[in-house]
Amino acid sequence: MTDLPVAETPSGTRAQLRLDTASWPVRAAQGIRETLGYGIGYALPFYFARSAKPVDPEPLWRLITTRQPAPVQSLIDAWPPGPRRERILRRFLEPSHAEGIEYHYDVSNDFYALFLDRRFMFYTCADFNAPGETIEDAQLNKANHILSLLDPKPGERIIELGCGWGSMMKHIHAHTGDSENLSGLTLSHDQLAYVRGTLGLNAELGDFITRDYGTETYDKIYSIGSFEHIKPDEVLPLYKRLHAALKPGGRAVFHFFSLNGTDRWPAAMVAAQAYFPGSTLSLHQDHLDWAGEAGFRLVHDSRHDYRPTLRAWFDRLAENRDKAHALVGVPVTNKYLVFFAASWTLFDLGKATLHRLVLMKD
Ligand SMILES: C[S@@+](CC[C@H](N)C(=O)[O-])C[C@H]1O[C@@H](n2cnc3c(N)ncnc32)[C@H](O)[C@@H]1O
Repeated sequence: MTDLPVAETPSGTRAQLRLDTASWPVRAAQGIRETLGYGIGYALPFYFARSAKPVDPEPLWRLITTRQPAPVQSLIDAWPPGPRRERILRRFLEPSHAEGIEYHYDVSNDFYALFLDRRFMFYTCADFNAPGETIEDAQLNKANHILSLLDPKPGERIIELGCGWGSMMKHIHAHTGDSENLSGLTLSHDQLAYVRGTLGLNAELGDFITRDYGTETYDKIYSIGSFEHIKPDEVLPLYKRLHAALKPGGRAVFHFFSLNGTDRWPAAMVAAQAYFPGSTLSLHQDHLDWAGEAGFRLVHDSRHDYRPTLRAWFDRLAENRDKAHALVGVPVTNKYLVFFAASWTLFDLGKATLHRLVLMKD
């Protein structure tokens, strides 16, 4: 297998990920080429996204989430082969974070509002604790759990890394009444405008991975669903800087999903480049080792099931697909429907798990 064609190197990431619609035979030919190059998990979303025809949600869900016979799944997991997977991923990881983040998040706030919970607009795993709960109930459960882990108090300096649409900041502010000492960081222009303009909270456009946080600046640091974007080589240096940024006795709460097992370059992460170019997960054990090496003491590590949230977003988007087509077009809508189903499968196959960690600085 040769190296990636020039047009597909990371500097061409944007061009490669463009969703130009094409006829069925053209899409099929592209799909075969992409399957050979990157695996079926990468090719499938583009196959549907390049269609001018809306996907039929329920058959799509079944197609993507039905368990494959073991030999078929083994083939999917083994392609592209190991050394090539690492090479592809390292190339995708070369460009700046901003490129991939804007690609995923700057679709349109109104589009996200079509499937996210209406109270907070959380774009992260919720806690469905009882039968019949809605995504609104489940996101409130999650927000309350994180509030209990963070235990924020008025006057404490608190920062959220990757604040999205300010959902948790809103909940903390409602609890403490203190907006002055609360701030958030995002790389998305649309999210920044929403947090500042609509919520009236402090947010900055900035890269939380490379930022200088100073020494003993914060009482609490938290992040919900953003550590998935940190490149593996960056995790330990970031943990060290976050440890230094906390005051003694300070606390960090991190909610993110990470890889189970020991394969650092699985095929599923090559597939994920279709949605999050330039991001790949780290092993959970690596996160724990690096946090310890940075000086943190782990006091809490809970596991949460992402699947019901993904199904809820899929159902909401499917219900609202006419509005979505009008807002962002058929290809983007198709691609998100595939994304939710494919992510459900990632968790269903046990390849990744969502954790909430509480780390203390003694
Ligand atoms: C999945 S969203 C989660 C948002 C929010 N925390 C929530 O729970 O809904 C991930 C967020 O991380 C932000 N993000 C990702 N990488 C970042 C980086 N390097 N610097 C700043 N923000 C980043 C994105 O802009 C987005 O706001």
